[in-house]
Amino acid sequence: MSHSEIGLQAKNDFPLSVAGAAAKGHPTDSIPGTVHDLGNLIQVAVSALNILSRNAHLAADPSLPPIVSSARMSLARAGTLVEQTLRRAREGAASVEAVSIGGCLSELRELVEKIWEPEIQLDVQVEPDLPPLTCSRINLQGAIMNLLTNARDAMPDGGTIALAARRAAKGGSTAAVEIEILDNGLGMSADTLQRAFEPFFTTRATGLGGFGLPVVKRFVEEVGGHIAVESKLNAGTQVTMYLPIAVCR
Ligand SMILES: Nc1ncnc2c1ncn2[C@@H]1O[C@H](COP(=O)(O)OP(=O)(O)O)[C@@H](O)[C@H]1O
Ligand SMILES: [Mg+2]
Repeated sequence: MSHSEIGLQAKNDFPLSVAGAAAKGHPTDSIPGTVHDLGNLIQVAVSALNILSRNAHLAADPSLPPIVSSARMSLARAGTLVEQTLRRAREGAASVEAVSIGGCLSELRELVEKIWEPEIQLDVQVEPDLPPLTCSRINLQGAIMNLLTNARDAMPDGGTIALAARRAAKGGSTAAVEIEILDNGLGMSADTLQRAFEPFFTTRATGLGGFGLPVVKRFVEEVGGHIAVESKLNAGTQVTMYLPIAVCR
């Protein structure tokens, strides 16, 4: 199977579902409807990767199978996200569980090491014996992934992102964990820093169009925490999420 055959299948599905529904004012012209369509498109990509992974040509180049398996892992995550978003739309809440921070961060490290350029290194430090957070695992990982992606994009020539999790110094009555993402990249001007959390605000020509930080902020606020950003132009950025242990959702 060639790439163009796979592309054709995905292309044919798209106008029928997302664009077609929107054009006719169909009931799926809504966020859950669009998310559902995204799920269908993910399925198309998963099928294509399944076909690719069975192709004998793939084994001839040992660098290819790990790339395919990272793509499958990302799509599996995207599928979970779709499924959870739809469930949340139905039930009005994300599924909450006891989440091991160490486990979450090592999964993210594994993913990043597989799919990002080797010029970007990730230094992960987790304080021993951190209590689990009670929250949506997928939303927590999504928030951290957004922050890591911003840090990566701020270091176009590569560098090391420091990702740390520790107990927050007692400031109030609630115990909290802080998760910190530090880069020494481009940093932000005072104006950018002030607008960084605005939906649709972006300084990038490509990317997801200014949705990363608003999504992170919403997650942090939903769990009753807060987020702090310090940044200096041409020096770097530090983002810290403070997540209360007891009431995190
Ligand atoms: N680590 C960072 N270093 C430098 N600038 C950043 C960083 N994180 C966020 N920003 C700035 O904040 C803006 C908004 O970020 P975000 O909401 O994630 O949207 P996007 O990444 O799609 O632009 C970015 O366009 C960028 O200007
Ligand atoms: Mg972003």
